[in-house]
Amino acid sequence: MNIVVINGTPRKYGRTRIAAKHVAEKLDAKLVDLSTLELPLFNGEKEQKDHAEVQLLEKTADEADAFVWLSPEYHSGMSGALKNCLDFLGGDHFRHKPTLLFSVAGGGKGGINSLNQMRTIGRGLYANVIPNQLVLDPYCFIREEDKLADEASEQVDFVLSEFKWYLDRYTK
Ligand SMILES: Cc1cc2nc3c(=O)[nH]c(=O)nc-3n(C[C@H](O)[C@H](O)[C@H](O)COP(=O)(O)O)c2cc1C
Repeated sequence: MNIVVINGTPRKYGRTRIAAKHVAEKLDAKLVDLSTLELPLFNGEKEQKDHAEVQLLEKTADEADAFVWLSPEYHSGMSGALKNCLDFLGGDHFRHKPTLLFSVAGGGKGGINSLNQMRTIGRGLYANVIPNQLVLDPYCFIREEDKLADEASEQVDFVLSEFKWYLDRYTK
């Protein structure tokens, strides 16, 4: 089973990156890290197909059986970095593939907007976006250690166990 986790923060020190690494480790998945992968800004020109990072992204998505998308909540929406990444891909990369969503927010009830936007985009890409999802607020992280706090880790485990239910049924 080939699971691909996409870290949607463009910030190398972003909390979303910490969560993405955690999830990738738990699932033994491949990490596409948008804080280090230097994708150009999608412009639809053919030359972008020759870009090494674009080719790597397409190959990784082609080979995936399932995805986890993690986005920070930025200005009441998902990150531009994740949207830009998805614009390089299409329905053939996602059709029928179980996809799990996480949002990492600044607290104060943020997070649901990026989840809803990702869910809409997942539909547009024919992904099998599962109903379970999770928002992680700053208190979910132990910043000095760049890791998730125990309670948040348990919440992540629960969502991942639900994700596995779908993986068992909808992947080969
Ligand atoms: C440009 C920008 C806009 C943000 N807007 C929001 C917001 O609308 N709602 C919110 O809950 N948090 C907001 N935040 C806080 C982030 O959600 C927070 O930093 C969180 O850790 C996820 O981002 P990160 O992975 O880049 O750290 C914003 C942060 C930045 C940098």
